[in-house]
Amino acid sequence: MRGIILAGGAGTRLAPMTLATSKQLLPVYDKPMLYYPLSTLMMAGIRDVMVISTPRDLPVMQALLGEGAQWGMRFSYAVQPEPKGIAQAFIIAKDFIGYQPVCLILGDNIFYGATLGAQLQKAAKITSGGHVFAYRVRDAQRYGVIELDAAGKVLSIEEKPKMPKSPLAVTGIYFYGPDVVQVAEGLTPSPRGELEITDVNTHYLRAGTLSAQLLGRGAAWLDTGTPDSLLAASQFVQTIEARQGLKIACVEEVAYHRGFIDSAQLQDLAARYGSNDYGAYLRQLLP
Ligand code: G1P
Repeated sequence: MRGIILAGGAGTRLAPMTLATSKQLLPVYDKPMLYYPLSTLMMAGIRDVMVISTPRDLPVMQALLGEGAQWGMRFSYAVQPEPKGIAQAFIIAKDFIGYQPVCLILGDNIFYGATLGAQLQKAAKITSGGHVFAYRVRDAQRYGVIELDAAGKVLSIEEKPKMPKSPLAVTGIYFYGPDVVQVAEGLTPSPRGELEITDVNTHYLRAGTLSAQLLGRGAAWLDTGTPDSLLAASQFVQTIEARQGLKIACVEEVAYHRGFIDSAQLQDLAARYGSNDYGAYLRQLLP
């Protein structure tokens, strides 16, 4: 399965923090925001990842993440010249996707929870159709809203409805078969001028091939779109990490635990950080 991190957008709501840098490079407590969606893809077992961003920000992301070999990954990069919607990512990544199923994650989405790894691995098994994650929120009208029956079957999906049919938001991680490229190519832009991911999901719903998993009450799906939600996300990560002494979204740790790198490679990565806390954390993972 291929992975895509969509990390475009102007980050207007976070300006002036985003006047000269990308939102997805801002810190969430102790690491760049991009590490969170990246580690989520890695937890799903995905090792081929394309990062899509603006012409201004892509070179910095490339400088941060490199080719991926250091983490047992393969990264490629593509520009989204103008933000024309989430579904445009599939058109940009057409050659990269080829005949593989694909997982798209939004570059500012933070997922956390005990069942997450198993749920992601289940989702990553799909080879056709579409698969999304639903999460209960207080303000569903701000999101794509999904309605499920008691058995978890998808009944409806609507983009930012005024009267949500359920409190379940569609989160920013999506799994599809390789035909998602043709589905995206067949879309017409919405009134806000975007190729909507909800229209992609509606296509699969109509075809009877859209499935969903519920991220339950023990899980966190966090927003980072405003100064307040960005700070709240940092505080959440800091609270858990300080209490448990375990890091959230430590890409080196995920790579090591998933067997993408061995202990000698982890040791090299730790050396990069000298005697700082991040380096000390990596070293204590070693046998
Ligand atoms: C987008 C999608 C929406 C989804 C949300 C998740 O919203 O259109 O369906 O629930 O991401 O973050 P946007 O950020 O474009 O408003």
